[in-house]
Amino acid sequence: MITSKFTPMKYSFSYMVNSMHAEDVKLLMKQSSGKSMISFAGGMPNNDLFPVKQIDEIYNELPDDLKKLSFQYGPTSGFPPLVKSVEKYLKRKDLPVDKNKILITTGSLQAISIITQEFVNKGDVILTENPCFVGALTVFETYGADIHGIPIDENGIIISELKDKIKSLKVKPKFLYATPNFHNPAGIIYSLERKKELLEVLKEHHIILLEDDAYNDLYFKKADKVLTKPMKAIENSGVEIIYTGSFSKIIGPGFRLGYMLASPEIYEKAETIKQALDACTSNFTQILANDFMQKNKLKPYLKFLRKEYFNRKKKLQKCLKKYMPEEVSWNEPKGGFYIWLTLPKHIKSTDIFKQSVKKGVVFVTGRTFDPKGKKDDCLRLSFSNVDKKDMEKGIKILAKAVKKVLSQ
Ligand SMILES: Cc1ncc(COP(=O)(O)O)c(C=O)c1O
Repeated sequence: MITSKFTPMKYSFSYMVNSMHAEDVKLLMKQSSGKSMISFAGGMPNNDLFPVKQIDEIYNELPDDLKKLSFQYGPTSGFPPLVKSVEKYLKRKDLPVDKNKILITTGSLQAISIITQEFVNKGDVILTENPCFVGALTVFETYGADIHGIPIDENGIIISELKDKIKSLKVKPKFLYATPNFHNPAGIIYSLERKKELLEVLKEHHIILLEDDAYNDLYFKKADKVLTKPMKAIENSGVEIIYTGSFSKIIGPGFRLGYMLASPEIYEKAETIKQALDACTSNFTQILANDFMQKNKLKPYLKFLRKEYFNRKKKLQKCLKKYMPEEVSWNEPKGGFYIWLTLPKHIKSTDIFKQSVKKGVVFVTGRTFDPKGKKDDCLRLSFSNVDKKDMEKGIKILAKAVKKVLSQ
């Protein structure tokens, strides 16, 4: 009989599978696409809002050679005409495209993942906002980062808390990950003053900023556009900033298109990592997105989206005012997809969820966005994907669930 020194068949998974938030994300994706529920859970556009006709026209009008190319592999850096289009688009946002390089990625989540792989070894410290986009938390956990969340208020990350955190750390954080414009889940936008204060702290401590700007274009009122200035566009900040953006909220997440703008040194290593991940992003969607931009279809489409989301936000807020008990408060977002509800401290959104899901309404619990998975006295409602006709019914059910938990 042969005896092996290896243990008999037992999976020996890597530490990468141990992301605490991964199950939350799986559940979220499932709930978001569930047909029978009234879902305030999904942070995605409604199917009826996609530019299906415009993309039909673009594909039908493509010359044969481009159609063929769209089925092909492409350069790891991205389809060159799209790189040029993104460059022009980012230049209009005052981003320093001349001193940096653009890498097209398979969604901006891939950009976040690449940067994490580039900088983070197991146990390294990453700073995030608390609450924080759960997709990013999953990435950071997957690579074994030691995540420290810093609380935010209605103007952004709380500077005194950030300073205290930095003071308490024994090692230098690899980077701070932040979403200054139309935060997911909190729905806030940083004030320009807070953006500058944050840059000052990062400069002083030589900490890299990973700036996630997935919602930049989705302001409701033109007057607020000035607030959306990316932090990377603030001149002479003296901070190393890696900027990420996405086509998911301005064409559709099914395109799986994002990008990063980073210094040549960071870009070069990022390109190598991407090569190993998926060789290149889909040429098919890059070619379509490029024509969407080139043929000036983005601007009118954004105008339509802004109006649509603004109306949805107004409707949701009206329903909240009408049905929610006075113990619950919420912010008034200036753009993006989310309203963040704050509950009395002794109430858990998970308990509300247990009640509302029985009646066919889902949302995302507060603890999902806490790096430690604990703080649960908040919840996220998304107005981007719920049918307008279901909104009132959904909020009525949710308010009932809140009242029930309050009375327990
Ligand atoms: C703040 C934030 N960043 C990044 C993403 C990921 O977007 P993408 O589809 O480009 O990977 C999302 C998606 O919801 C998001 O909310």
